[in-house]
Amino acid sequence: MTRGKFITFEGGEGSGKSTQVALLAERLRAAGLGIVVTREPGGTPLGEGIRSLVLDAAPEPTTELLLFAAARAEHVAKVIRPALDHGTWVVCDRFMDSTRVYQGLLGGAPGDLIGALEIRTIAPTYPDLTLVLDLPAEAGLKRTEARGALSRFDAESTDYHKRLQDGFLAIARAEPARCAVIDADRSAEDVAADIWSTVKSRLLGGVR
Ligand SMILES: Nc1ncnc2c1ncn2[C@@H]1O[C@H](COP(=O)(O)OP(=O)(O)OP(=O)(O)O)[C@@H](O)[C@H]1O
Ligand SMILES: [Mg+2]
Repeated sequence: MTRGKFITFEGGEGSGKSTQVALLAERLRAAGLGIVVTREPGGTPLGEGIRSLVLDAAPEPTTELLLFAAARAEHVAKVIRPALDHGTWVVCDRFMDSTRVYQGLLGGAPGDLIGALEIRTIAPTYPDLTLVLDLPAEAGLKRTEARGALSRFDAESTDYHKRLQDGFLAIARAEPARCAVIDADRSAEDVAADIWSTVKSRLLGGVR
């Protein structure tokens, strides 16, 4: 059986990840592929519990890193890897790059610990493709303000959001074989079309 492909979405708040996850999932299903849609933090009952604990409690960055790593270990072992092994594609809303950026770059959690946890929780199940949605921080903030209900992460300053965006773009530059930067400052339909052509050319051998 052909292994499924693992696609992750990354980018700042309000960049359109959840919107595009749903649109890509529709297209993949229409192409006849079995797919699982999931998210981080979360993805399992235990992981969703950790998600709500952490979003409420504002722990130290290292505490947060370890809790999210625990959630990820469950998620990869129980959901992502088994699905891929069965030929199912997995589309995940945020994954390891959000850890590097939020807990690492912005939270100051130690890079060596982040690297070690990545290996222990993910290897060898790394994403085949990471779509980095590129939206200026101000535009993302406007979108999330319009949506209402700010989370603890949303409520940070514009400068924080700029550093966040730069962090994701730096990862994409450092790992171009895995990552594709998508201009997200367009209509959801235009962004979805760009994502679909990227998925086709990178993962479907240009067919379909
Ligand atoms: N291309 C777009 N143009 C305008 N508005 C959009 C676009 N894509 C999504 N939106 C709207 O912007 C808001 C944020 O979108 P979405 O929830 O998909 O972003 P997100 O990256 O998942 O955000 P978060 O990081 O908070 O989870 C939503 O209200 C959504 O309807
Ligand atoms: Mg979202």
